[in-house]
Amino acid sequence: MNILVRPLRESDLPLADRIFRLAFGTFNGLQDPLRFGGDMDKIRTRWLADPGAAFGAEADGALVGSNFVTHWGSVGYFGPLTVHPDFWDRGVGQKLVEPALALFEAWGCRHTGLYTFSASPKHLALYQKFGFWPRALTAILSKAVRPVERVGEASLYSQTPASERAGLVAAAAGLTDAMYAGLDVQREILALQNQGLGDTVLIWDDPGLVGFGAVHVGAGSEAGSGCGFIKFGAARPGPKAGEYFGRLLSACEAYVAAQGARQLIAGVSLARKPAYEHLRSRGFQPEVVGVCMHKPNEPGYHRAEAWVIDDWR
Ligand SMILES: CC(C)(COP(=O)(O)OP(=O)(O)OC[C@H]1O[C@@H](n2cnc3c(N)ncnc32)[C@H](O)[C@@H]1OP(=O)(O)O)[C@@H](O)C(=O)NCCC(=O)NCCS
Repeated sequence: MNILVRPLRESDLPLADRIFRLAFGTFNGLQDPLRFGGDMDKIRTRWLADPGAAFGAEADGALVGSNFVTHWGSVGYFGPLTVHPDFWDRGVGQKLVEPALALFEAWGCRHTGLYTFSASPKHLALYQKFGFWPRALTAILSKAVRPVERVGEASLYSQTPASERAGLVAAAAGLTDAMYAGLDVQREILALQNQGLGDTVLIWDDPGLVGFGAVHVGAGSEAGSGCGFIKFGAARPGPKAGEYFGRLLSACEAYVAAQGARQLIAGVSLARKPAYEHLRSRGFQPEVVGVCMHKPNEPGYHRAEAWVIDDWR
């Protein structure tokens, strides 16, 4: 079997999406594997966010798998990585990890990783071959939300005048940089706006921007129908971080409910005990638990002091 890894083209996306659902649906034992993920989208949205960071694997000329790489400044991660079940355990997955490592190098990422199934010996062994090491568990939680009258003292990126948006993106990068040098999730803020997938919720106090959340909502986003999903959320570090985090969550709940969502999904590393406990105290229930694997084997911003929501899925 000849395996060729190449950039993923727009014309590949329908098949890449099919393989993504089939692979996860099969691994998870779904009766109809193609129904995995419903109408949420992780393939077209990631390709549009950065077409140069999406790769496909061909076996004898036919697409059989894909992988997507995410650049968050000094941090990089990859996924979803999927291979058509007919081609599992024949080396395709490993071939699709290689371009991710090359991009991390080219981008100068100091901390890299991925999210995977914590109970799968195959997954842990596959990524360990490339130097990734499992650290803390990461929980995906969800909570039912109801529409509320007021979002509170929050604003939305989409309502910010165009002339102020670059400054906002820079302020968000400043906030994350204070948590982990060089961490910058501007790609998520811009993808929401450019692709109409949701919005970025902004929390303010005396020092300026003290929290933000990049939130997907509804069909065709990473959330899916009836749902909101906080892809990345952070509160400014310091003595008031917990208070800002609470305000951020209230605003995210109000925003997704106003968009018609009934459920809000958020992932968090269990290394961030205060953030996890805060989510639990607000009624978020864990639904799925996986593990983030890191290279190098260091915490990065997966630390107790980091009031961050993200899951690297
Ligand atoms: C995970 C996935 C991408 C891997 O792709 P793949 O093409 O099957 O992987 P490869 O064949 O390149 O590598 C698998 C490796 O795991 C090894 N392996 C398989 N089962 C194993 C087990 N039970 N214990 C330890 N190692 C195991 C294989 O031997 C192989 O290593 P080797 O080449 O050194 O022998 C693919 O199985 C898939 O799409 N799964 C469903 C979706 C998914 O889980 N995606 C990843 C989420 S993080």
